[in-house]
Amino acid sequence: MRIAAVVPAAGRGERLGPGGPKALRELSGVPILVHAVRAVAASRSVELVVVAAPPDGVSLVASLLADHDVPAELTVVAGGATRQDSVRRAVASLPPEFTGVLVHDAARPLVPVELVDAVAAALRGGAEAVIPALPVTDTVKQVDDGVVVATPDRAGLVAVQTPQGFSRAVLEKAHAAATDSATTDAAATDDAGLVERIGIAVRTVPGSEEAFKVTRPLDLVFAEAILARRRA
Ligand code: CTP
Ligand code: MG
Repeated sequence: MRIAAVVPAAGRGERLGPGGPKALRELSGVPILVHAVRAVAASRSVELVVVAAPPDGVSLVASLLADHDVPAELTVVAGGATRQDSVRRAVASLPPEFTGVLVHDAARPLVPVELVDAVAAALRGGAEAVIPALPVTDTVKQVDDGVVVATPDRAGLVAVQTPQGFSRAVLEKAHAAATDSATTDAAATDDAGLVERIGIAVRTVPGSEEAFKVTRPLDLVFAEAILARRRA
């Protein structure tokens, strides 16, 4: 199975606050997107990386990646208005020989190569959908209008990460089904959510704390600390 990585990087990063598109913000002087692309390209399983850039920033992103040493076969496509749209466009651009896809958020720049390898290995082993998961450490409540209505048993909950691995046919079918029912379904925040809706089993592999998503300002502090520890 030939595997490509799709890296959605077209978000605005609103929760990170002012400072431009999140994927282009820097960690230790290197754009977050460059860290993320290097991290997935470090896996010997990944033969091609397709980045979904902000629609008005395709050439900027392409030249930024060209300026940094990224040891990967790489293309940049225009992303869309939602993450789902960005992933769908990037997958559509893949040459037909790529029958396995890893979808990895640009916003998870520090994912260890071992995790990328583990997801790819599960895919090669026959899984149609595989995602990294970690036990939830906070107690999670369901609320309605600020009032708690339920407390799901934490033992049955996990927090999930990327890269998420899929057979390409399954991923495309899930995205097509979601596009068709876009007016009735709630927006999915990951690709596995779309795959679940078409009745395909999604397997999990153990996630990594370092695969956390850079979402809020404090996450930049964590990320810099991890990079400093790696340099030490
Ligand atoms: N993403 C994308 N296209 C969009 C929206 C999001 O490719 N239209 C990507 C982001 O660039 C990011 C990943 O999806 O790599 C995860 O999304 P998130 O963490 O929500 O990033 P943003 O949407 O950029 O952040 P925010 O929601 O705070 O604005
Ligand atoms: Mg977002």
